Amino acid sequence: MLRGKDIVLIISGGIAAYKSLDLIRRLKERGARVVPVMTNGAQEFITPLAVGALSAEKVFTNLFDREAEHDVGHIRLARDHDLILVAPATANLMAKMAHGITDDLATAVLLATDKPVLAAPAMNPKMWLHEATQRNLETLTERGISFVGPASGEMAERNESGVGRMSEPLEIVAAAEAVLREEAIKAGSLPLANKHVLITSGPTHEPIDPVRFIANRSSGKQGHALARAAFEAGARVTLVSGPVDLPDLANITTIHVESAAAMMAAVEDNLPADIAIMAAAVADWRVASEGAQKIKKDGSGKPPALELTENPDILATIGHQKNLRPRLLIGFAAETQDLLKNARSKLERKNADWIIANDVSPETGVMGGDANTVRLVSQEGVEDWPQMDKAEVARKIIARAGDALNQT
Ligand SMILES: Cc1cc2nc3c(=O)[nH]c(=O)nc-3n(C[C@H](O)[C@H](O)[C@H](O)COP(=O)(O)O)c2cc1C
Repeated sequence: MLRGKDIVLIISGGIAAYKSLDLIRRLKERGARVVPVMTNGAQEFITPLAVGALSAEKVFTNLFDREAEHDVGHIRLARDHDLILVAPATANLMAKMAHGITDDLATAVLLATDKPVLAAPAMNPKMWLHEATQRNLETLTERGISFVGPASGEMAERNESGVGRMSEPLEIVAAAEAVLREEAIKAGSLPLANKHVLITSGPTHEPIDPVRFIANRSSGKQGHALARAAFEAGARVTLVSGPVDLPDLANITTIHVESAAAMMAAVEDNLPADIAIMAAAVADWRVASEGAQKIKKDGSGKPPALELTENPDILATIGHQKNLRPRLLIGFAAETQDLLKNARSKLERKNADWIIANDVSPETGVMGGDANTVRLVSQEGVEDWPQMDKAEVARKIIARAGDALNQT
């Protein structure tokens, strides 16, 4: 979402300005260009030298800068970028914004802009809760300015806590992505805008007794990458995730489940969807009767017999549900042998539109790794895709899904 985006970052004079240095890095590592503007106040807390070095851009500080203003630079700053991000936004800056005051470069840019504005307020709780600030917030929100935070917690001031801490850089990044996505949806440039995409991800855990379970080596990386790619394509995404070691994705509704039965129920609860991508590695079997207590050795030297029973087949169940079947139903086939034969048979048996087939033999490193080599199997035939990063595989699947949906 941030790749290739141009962001003006206005830093005002609050103690949280130090977090803006990290924010610049987070935005840049996601492929955004960050053009910094600092108020006089901001320069009391962090230096233009640090901001310039981290952003690798000229830092704008002065409205009456002869060099920058030979072509009315503040208007270019206001117009030639994708987003104006204010972090931290002081009480003072919010007040000036609300009242249209333009007595420095930051406020002149904010008044002259026709681009989306996102602000991350940071101030003492008393300042935040003051009627003046709350009214300014209301005015700015009514005018379409977006806000992230503030969060509550300890203040820099001794013995003070409450609402007023600036949101963490990654939360601000997520909010910036959400604002840019909304803009792209409004501009009609996202293929899955207004579509619901349901995705399953990760392994399932099938309990044996209260402390043991049967699992598999799925990491959830491919399913989570699909959820992110679908979100970036404008979709409303529901992610049903088995137990994974991955952080929850910002802006994406995630339902956490353990067993295949719980995953089945969560999928059914969240249909209908325009597209469903069943990327989870669902256990085929579960233990027929879960022990109520931890199974103990009985001294006989004989291991306990675990009777297995088949789990619900999520892909097949929704594939054959006439009224609930998504328009595009995509399954994954993780195989260690007869990859294509098994994928084709899955396509038929489960009434799926596509099967994304991948060889998960241990030597491929796919399970848990960052790369994947897949084939797209459909009624039209088999496409071999080269080895790609799981994020790239996800973007390609989502782009193809968008094409398929928009053609029918
Ligand atoms: C040590 C110190 C910390 C401050 N922290 C904040 C703050 O977190 N939030 C805030 O709104 N103002 C804070 N202020 C007050 C602002 O710096 C002051 O209102 C200033 O005029 C803001 O200018 P600007 O909005 O143009 O950057 C602080 C002031 C000092 C001296």
